[in-house]
Amino acid sequence: MRTFSFFLVVFFLASVQSFSQTSRVPASYSNIKYDSQNQLYYLKDGERLYSYPQEDEYTIEQLLGNPSGTKRGIYFDFKGFKGTIVYGLIPYGKAPHPLPVYRYTKPLYDGKVAVNISNRFKYPFDFVDWENKKKLSLGYRLINEKGEIIFDGVVSVTGNGPFNVVPTIYEGPFVSNITDTSALIWFNTSASVKATVEVDGKLYSDERKRRRHELLISGLKAGTKYDYTVTYGEMTQSYHFTTAPKKGSRKPFIFAYTSDSREGKGGGERDIYGTNAYISKKMAAVAYSHDASFVQFTGDMVNGYVTNAEELRLQLTNWKKAIEPFWHYIPFYVGSGNHEALGPRFYDKNGKYAAAIDGFPFDRNSSEAVMKASFVNPENGPVSEDNSKYDPRSKKTDFPSYSENVYYYTYGNVAMVVLNSDYWYAPSAKNDHGTSGGLHGYIMDNQLEWLKKTIEKLEDDNNIDHIFVTQHTPAFPNGGHSRDDMWYSGDNSKRPYIAGKPVDKGIIERRDEYLDILINKSTKVVAILTGDEHNYNRLKITKEVTIYPENYDKPKIEISRPIYQINNGACGAPYYSQEVLPWSDHTKAFSVENAICLFHVDGKKIKLEVINPDTLNKIDEIELR
Ligand SMILES: [Fe+2]
Repeated sequence: MRTFSFFLVVFFLASVQSFSQTSRVPASYSNIKYDSQNQLYYLKDGERLYSYPQEDEYTIEQLLGNPSGTKRGIYFDFKGFKGTIVYGLIPYGKAPHPLPVYRYTKPLYDGKVAVNISNRFKYPFDFVDWENKKKLSLGYRLINEKGEIIFDGVVSVTGNGPFNVVPTIYEGPFVSNITDTSALIWFNTSASVKATVEVDGKLYSDERKRRRHELLISGLKAGTKYDYTVTYGEMTQSYHFTTAPKKGSRKPFIFAYTSDSREGKGGGERDIYGTNAYISKKMAAVAYSHDASFVQFTGDMVNGYVTNAEELRLQLTNWKKAIEPFWHYIPFYVGSGNHEALGPRFYDKNGKYAAAIDGFPFDRNSSEAVMKASFVNPENGPVSEDNSKYDPRSKKTDFPSYSENVYYYTYGNVAMVVLNSDYWYAPSAKNDHGTSGGLHGYIMDNQLEWLKKTIEKLEDDNNIDHIFVTQHTPAFPNGGHSRDDMWYSGDNSKRPYIAGKPVDKGIIERRDEYLDILINKSTKVVAILTGDEHNYNRLKITKEVTIYPENYDKPKIEISRPIYQINNGACGAPYYSQEVLPWSDHTKAFSVENAICLFHVDGKKIKLEVINPDTLNKIDEIELR
């Protein structure tokens, strides 16, 4: 009897587990299933192509090193990390863009190391005055056995021997979502702490102890510089930000645009575990030193294409760390690219990669969820592709959220509309639609509808003179992506599949609908800002430009007025050179130098200046309006 009921319980639990697992595959996918062992597979032509969950190579928690204070310094345990630590003091309060001054290197033993502060950093090496102040922040870099840099970390301590580890900001503080009356200051701490931000004598405080801090500073005056001080337990950091100009004032300002900073080649800081920190940092320095009010960065911050959320989080943290010294002062708005891909990858029985989809559950394991959790962007975009005409189940969630990956913001007389052309992205969708999923370069229905309404709203806003629309993929690829983006070598059959069925509009038809909104339904859209192709170039789209493949049998749109496509995917990923395309004669200033675009906005006029952030060479300069 006992044995019988035991088996009943086991059977019941197994069936509950298998049911709950199986039910978790979103209805928007097709041919994706769990087997009786709860292994996920893609059923293709009768063959099961399995996905193999991978262990995290590293986790942020591991790289924070579980530090503890000792009599003479800090003891770290990086949980089996093989390699070396490099460390030095960080001059918070002494330098406007505090960066660790690395001074010593030590091997790790089984991931563990004791770092000496008392002797190593005493007079005359104490440039942060820790011996008097009895507090300091140590920056450290972890390098693996192959010599690859994996992580730049921080740990704050009090005392001058013995030392106590205290809550540390390991990323931030960042300033985001600046308007004419508000700003959002956010940061992550190594331990739970109730943090505060002081602005203009007013204190903004977390409601309770936490590790992720987001404090909205409001009630500010337009066009005003504000000092701010972040206090987190024993430690403080002070920077400043400037609110956006008064609406309608049409004061001149500069903003910057770039994208594609995934890892470069050549080692060192060109590849800090997934990101080209070297060029990213220089890009941010150039933007800041040229008085850019904000930077728009649209996709491929990191290598991505990972199966685990933690891997993507770590890579994005490394990107944020590269830019952090400048993000204390000016906002960086990010969009999604194909490289932020996260989700299961399916392999055939020979171990050959066959297909990949966006991860689920969508609220935790999708690219969209990790992007939302990793950044702060405005929350005024569409909800998701649920409730579109293709939604397989109304009232149920079958798609990832657009929150903070599709949005718009305004600054002075400019509006920036940020789209996600790698939404619900299935990397294999181009060649294999069996799984269903989003197609690289395709703006799906609800997002397009939101774009249309947003442009209408901005057209009616008398304070806005210029609109920029940015998404990762060019409408007109020029070098590296002629076989995808919004062109696919002119093959309109390419489109997303939802729940096993193709959507009505192909990629070229959808590109046309998108262009029709920006060109024919708008007088204010100046340019589309794109990336994906690792080069800088500009294309003026006029009615003279050929934009269709030969023998195109679908309706063609009229180009009633010119707009620009400014492509800049040159923030550090390996370059692509120019290809021959129908619009190539109109493609100007093509360059494979690393590049940052600086838009000088002065009332009705806009001048574009393009600079190589590595050499400071001026690549291009042109009046857009
Ligand atoms: Fe890309």
